[in-house]
Amino acid sequence: MPEAVGPMKARRMLSPDQLADFLASLDVKETLVYAVFSRLREGALPAEDESLFVRQELRCSKLKLRPITLKGGIQLQAEFQFGPRTFHQQYPLTPDAPPLAKGLRDFSEGTIFTNRGDYQFYWTSANLCRITERAPTKARESLAHNRQKSYLLAEGEPIPFLVELGVMDTSGRVYPKKYDKFRQINKYLEFVEDALRRFPQEKPLYIVDFGSGKAYLTFALYHYLSARGYTDVQVTGLDLKEDVVAFCNETARRLRYEHLQFQVGDIANFHIDEGTGAAAHRPDMIISLHACDIATDAALVKALQWGSPVILAVPCCQHEFFHQLTFPAMESILRYGVTRDKQATLVTDASRALMLRAFGYSVEMVEFITMEHTPKNVLIRAYREDALREISARAESAREGSAHAESAQEGSARAESASEGSARAESAQEGSAHRKSASKGSARGVVSAGEVSPPGKTPQGLSSQEGIPEKRTILRVSDPGYRAYRDFLDTWGVGRTYLELELTRVGLLKES
Ligand SMILES: C[S@@+](CC[C@H](N)C(=O)[O-])C[C@H]1O[C@@H](n2cnc3c(N)ncnc32)[C@H](O)[C@@H]1O
Repeated sequence: MPEAVGPMKARRMLSPDQLADFLASLDVKETLVYAVFSRLREGALPAEDESLFVRQELRCSKLKLRPITLKGGIQLQAEFQFGPRTFHQQYPLTPDAPPLAKGLRDFSEGTIFTNRGDYQFYWTSANLCRITERAPTKARESLAHNRQKSYLLAEGEPIPFLVELGVMDTSGRVYPKKYDKFRQINKYLEFVEDALRRFPQEKPLYIVDFGSGKAYLTFALYHYLSARGYTDVQVTGLDLKEDVVAFCNETARRLRYEHLQFQVGDIANFHIDEGTGAAAHRPDMIISLHACDIATDAALVKALQWGSPVILAVPCCQHEFFHQLTFPAMESILRYGVTRDKQATLVTDASRALMLRAFGYSVEMVEFITMEHTPKNVLIRAYREDALREISARAESAREGSAHAESAQEGSARAESASEGSARAESAQEGSAHRKSASKGSARGVVSAGEVSPPGKTPQGLSSQEGIPEKRTILRVSDPGYRAYRDFLDTWGVGRTYLELELTRVGLLKES
């Protein structure tokens, strides 16, 4: 239990009847920073508290409380520790909030940290609560900071897709055994949020999730996009498993997620128009989370083929390099299965990053979620900066174009009334109609703002009008980027990789 270390200011002994007044005097709504209670008191639990501090015969060993900011305002977040599991719940931040009032009564000891003082307590054998007040050692973080830290999907409000997928109940309470998944979904949405900031808000978005599985994250993505007001979106999940895909499509239908759909198929054989039935259109973001072994590479090849501006990939198990790795200086690591496996993972992910860099992506490796949830926790985040700049520039010029068109229309109305300059006005109106049809086209996924892409599939899904010169999508074995990839793998004794073979097969990696 954290010790309050400030100089002592006062000490008092309170009977159970005096606790409510004591809590009221703290003014927790304004002052509470953090509280931690430990060791439930023996025999201290009346029957009505069983659900709060005892679950499935496990007694709560620790309770942590802190204020957080959610949509509905400031709340008290309680973290209950039951054996190896933690369980979270929000309450109104009041002195009689159950975990606070009952926690003070039912735990043997603890400290309530406020802006005004730290209150350390423990229960004596005479059933008196001895409270030592010290100078404050913690300050409440600014609400803005708190807000950033709070989850994007808040617990306490039922969120339809999480209810459908069995993560929370209809009152918005996350099932304890699904808390890790809930946390993972939220973490994932933080990365999505970062990536979406790179696109103009008005841009139609087409996102493909490869190896979507039961699609917690795909549904979360769609929910997030809708909640943030993105209306022109198409999200496609692809998976090998027919039954899982059928379940996901049925769930999307029940949720009325009209622009979310799932397809059965192998990543390597997926074509853009299979996903949407729409005109060829480069996916803006490729997601692949824990797709098995080389499935991640298949997803990267697709993203490279399309020149997708954003890639978020969390690789899963890797087998391809495991048996190949040789590196005399690393023999001590490669000798043992467990360390060899970890090394194979690192080499695989590093080589993927090198390949993406060779194709012009800026790449970061980010910890996706802490190791306690999954050891497969490295997110490869790759941005095609030139494509993102191009998209922003197009959106900007479309905005400017539309402002000019409006002013031209105004001018033409005046000119028409004067029966002069009508030819110029017509041309301005044509321009405006063209833009309107472009924005209608975008509902079916045509990417460029202010420009209409012709319908129909372009060779290999590449569409040159998307702003990336063709030559940037082809890599030659003599290119320094590719040399860096190969030299790295040569060092580790790894021969031609699936990634190289696939890139060669689809014509993105050429001998000369
Ligand atoms: C571990 S699950 C991950 C599911 C989901 N992305 C998530 O993170 O919760 C991996 C999924 O990838 C799918 N998968 C593996 N290889 C694939 C391939 N070549 N094409 C399509 N799906 C694939 C599997 O069927 C499985 O559902």
